[in-house]
Order: sequence, then structure tokens, then C-alpha cells
Amino acid sequence: MKLFLDSADPKEIASAVATGLVDGVTTNPSLAAKTGMKLTDALRAICEMVPGSVSAEVTATDADAMIAEGKHLAKIASNITVKVPLTWDGLRACKALSGEGHTVNVTLCFSPNQALLAAKAGATFISPFIGRLDDIGADGMELIREIRLIYDNYNFATEILAASIRHPMHVREAALAGADVCTLPPALFKQLAHHPLTDKGLAAFLEDWKKTGQSIL
Ligand code: E4P
Repeated sequence: MKLFLDSADPKEIASAVATGLVDGVTTNPSLAAKTGMKLTDALRAICEMVPGSVSAEVTATDADAMIAEGKHLAKIASNITVKVPLTWDGLRACKALSGEGHTVNVTLCFSPNQALLAAKAGATFISPFIGRLDDIGADGMELIREIRLIYDNYNFATEILAASIRHPMHVREAALAGADVCTLPPALFKQLAHHPLTDKGLAAFLEDWKKTGQSIL
């Protein structure tokens, strides 16, 4: 499973990228607003740091304007993926942009039928929002499982990008359900490597090693 960062903040992204484990980035208008930066500047900086897909979301709501914005965003860097919302206009824009060779992420997916339409429109990624479904008492992870089954039934190449991820259990469950990608807030990305037994075990190893008076180098 690929790991993307869910952030539009180049500084925040830089420290996670240093691990060598970041496969891509997803941004959205709310994340972009938080940075206080000009969107194109932030995206350019992120694309220079991250070789993989960097999703940049359109803000127009009609298909023609989405297509124009998408083409404009795609000029920022070769690894920009145009992100469009899962509306009829978004699906039309997806079909047009993917038909012209752009990679497209269809976002704000909350049902298997929406995901089916996105795949038929040629989406590179579909973004089901797990946390927001859990928030309203639905089972976000069940959506991932159903989309996986539908895409496998028909050999759709669209990658399932588990989004709106809130805690480590979401990451584990998304991986078990066969999501292709999981996009994580940077703080959660860092949290994934932590386990109290790892810290405790390492402290004991180092303490015992110190007693030997040796050094490896
Ligand atoms: C994904 O592309 C979205 O930017 C993101 O995962 C939304 O997450 P949220 O529900 O925590 O805002």
C-alpha cells in the first residue's frame, strides 16, 4: 500500500519526506487555506520534494471551468494529479482530463456507486472518505471493502485511495481491505512507527549493551 501525506504545507511535508517512505501527497482547498501560502507556490514546492503523485484540487463547480482549472494546475509540475469532486460535473471533467492523459483523483466519495462511476470516467484514484462516514455513524471501512470487490470484479485500474484517515486502526484496516493508497495527516504518519514496547525494548537493549563497555565502530 502506498502512503501519501494529506497536507498542503511544504514545511510539514519536508520532514516526513526525509524518511524516504512518502509516495505522494494529497491537498484540498481547506488544507491549502491553512497554509496561508499562494496555492501555486505551495504546490510547486511540494512537487519538487515528492516525486510521486501530488493531488491539486479544482475549485470550480461546472465541468468546463473544472477542466480549465485542471489543465492550469497540471502545468505546475509533471507529477500533479488533478483532483475533482464526485459530482456529475466532476465526472465529466474527469472523463475529459483523463482522456487527455492527465492523472485524476476523484474526491469526496461516499458510496460504492459513486466509485463505480469514477472508475468508468477513467479516474486514476478514487478517494473514499472513511473518517467522515464514521463521524455520521456509518462504517467507512466497509466502503473500502465494497469498492475493492467492485473494482476487482471488473478489473478497473482505478486505485483506491483511502482518505479522511483519523487514527492508526484506519491505516491497518485499509491495508487489510486492499486499499492501494492511504493518505495520512503528517502527525499520524509519524505515529505509525511508534509502539511503547519498541521504546521499552530498545531502552533495555541499550542499557545491557552499555554494561559491556564495547562499541560497534
Ligand atoms: C483527501 O484527499 C482529503 O484531503 C482528506 O483525507 C480529508 O480528510 P478529513 O475528513 O480529515 O478532512
